[in-house]
Amino acid sequence: MIPEEFIQELKYHSDIVDVVSSYVALRHRGKTHSGLCPFHSEKTPSFHVYPDTQSFYCFGCGAGGDVVTFIRRIENLEYVEALRFLAQRAGLAMPEDVRDDGSARMKMRILEINRQTARIFYENLTSPGGREGLRYLRQRGLSDKTIRRFGLGYSMPGWDTLAKQLRSQGFTDEEMLSAAVVSKGRNGSVFDMFRGRVMFPIIDLRGNVIGFGGRKLGEESGPKYLNSPDTPVFKKSRNLFALNFAKASKEKGIILCEGYMDVIAQHQAGFDNAVATLGTALTPEQCRLLSQYTDQVLLSYDADEAGQKATRRGIELLSQIGMKIKVIHIPDAKDPDEFIKKFGAQRFRMLLEGSSNATEFAIARIREKYDTDTDDGRMNCLKELAAFLAEIPNPIERDVYQSRVALDLGISKDILGAQVASLQKRMTRSRNRKEDADLRIYAIKGNGTNPGGINELQRRNNMKCAVAEDKLLGVLIRNPDYFRHIAARIQPEQFVTDLNRTIAQVIYRRLEQNLPVDMPSLSGELEPEQMSQLSRILLDASGIKSTQQETDDYIDVLLQNQNKPTPQQIGAMDDEQFREYMASLTAGKR
Ligand code: CTP
Ligand code: MN
Repeated sequence: MIPEEFIQELKYHSDIVDVVSSYVALRHRGKTHSGLCPFHSEKTPSFHVYPDTQSFYCFGCGAGGDVVTFIRRIENLEYVEALRFLAQRAGLAMPEDVRDDGSARMKMRILEINRQTARIFYENLTSPGGREGLRYLRQRGLSDKTIRRFGLGYSMPGWDTLAKQLRSQGFTDEEMLSAAVVSKGRNGSVFDMFRGRVMFPIIDLRGNVIGFGGRKLGEESGPKYLNSPDTPVFKKSRNLFALNFAKASKEKGIILCEGYMDVIAQHQAGFDNAVATLGTALTPEQCRLLSQYTDQVLLSYDADEAGQKATRRGIELLSQIGMKIKVIHIPDAKDPDEFIKKFGAQRFRMLLEGSSNATEFAIARIREKYDTDTDDGRMNCLKELAAFLAEIPNPIERDVYQSRVALDLGISKDILGAQVASLQKRMTRSRNRKEDADLRIYAIKGNGTNPGGINELQRRNNMKCAVAEDKLLGVLIRNPDYFRHIAARIQPEQFVTDLNRTIAQVIYRRLEQNLPVDMPSLSGELEPEQMSQLSRILLDASGIKSTQQETDDYIDVLLQNQNKPTPQQIGAMDDEQFREYMASLTAGKR
């Protein structure tokens, strides 16, 4: 553990406005400072720094926390590393970290192994045993310049060629296993993870080799692509292949595609703004990462069913964080790589320019589902399209697409318009019914953490409890003197949403041990996502005094929820129990 006193000292020497100012141009009005958020791309400032609570919060993307969380996010560091970073900045000597279990050293070793491995793979291409790899890459149309730029390579087909080489450089089997460049066999010995494959090193934004993808050369057994598993230095869900290049591209936007070869083919053809996910579906973290470098993503997935599905997912995730989206439709080829090879760079540029937006994509997909030459098909297609159009929030945009659809399907624009308008009316009515007072209490939009993810969903499904929990946590931090009273009535385990429950557990534990619960103290025990939630809560609570009575009301909301039976339980009640239950409901109302 890092001694509490040191953290307090560090906090004193690391004013959040000072620290943030070296990354973001801040202007101040009154007590708050604001600027363009460094964690997502935006044109008007929604990023705020509050000197009084020594915290920050972005109303655009929901990132928030204290100075340590800020450094963790912006420098991509673990907690202790962020402390060390700030200590260095403040000219303070970092005390010995007894919790340091050698993980920082292990990471360094893994990165060193990866770097050496990439070098060995690259050199294999020109060694007698690796000719086949070079031949494969050339046959895929890659120039020597491209091969060098991406540091492509070849893993020898033998069982332990790499392991032997790394061992001779002084790396232990245990270190190689942590880097996942080898695997452990049944007899306990290690063997090379990648054998006889062309190799694609994955490089992060700081230029470190963090993992590898390997493609088999022919029809031999085994998966077509083999990727490094997650390691202490590699999280697939947080990285994108070639973002290290794309982030500096002069091209507009970032092209997101499926595979290594697609990216490389595009870069070679001059589109150096292409990136790819690493053998997994797009994640919210990757979206946030993209939004730090661009406000427009061009989805360039394969033409097949899987690619279309990925496109829909991409549109959903990216639009949630306010990104502009274009969809590149690739005709007469299965993927961007093949398209460029068949038709050349200039045609690909035309595809980019002619790319459709997300709405056009969705309409085209709906059209495809129906045979519009038959009356029946046309009817059903229109029905679905009208429902889709009704969901478009912007009236001008809606009108544009309404006209297009009407023209396309050969019906009068007015009839379609009337249909859409009536659907809209119905939708608003049912929505209003659902969004009761609870939603209005939840005034600050979204909690930003994990957009659309499980946390947000849980909040939405338990809005009343989630708000009560927010309020209670706010009270606890600002009025630790209420703790005894609160803890006597409710325990963290009774919190409904996972995110708030985790935060409550930490706050309760600290208050029981008489430890401070301000933001900097909590950032040692909470992940950045939880810190974001916390700063939102504090912001919500700022300037409001909470009385004991209000606190009790929040607790009541949570306790009432505990006693509420689930629909399954209600279904299983016998008549007597059910009557009692109904009676208890009416009693509660009075
Ligand atoms: N992928 C994977 N494991 C597989 C197949 C694919 O991880 N067994 C991932 C790889 O990241 C790959 C991407 O999915 O780059 C796209 O796969 P696919 O479309 O099958 O490959 P292509 O990019 O077309 O590869 P190639 O042109 O080399 O056949
Ligand atoms: Mn391909």
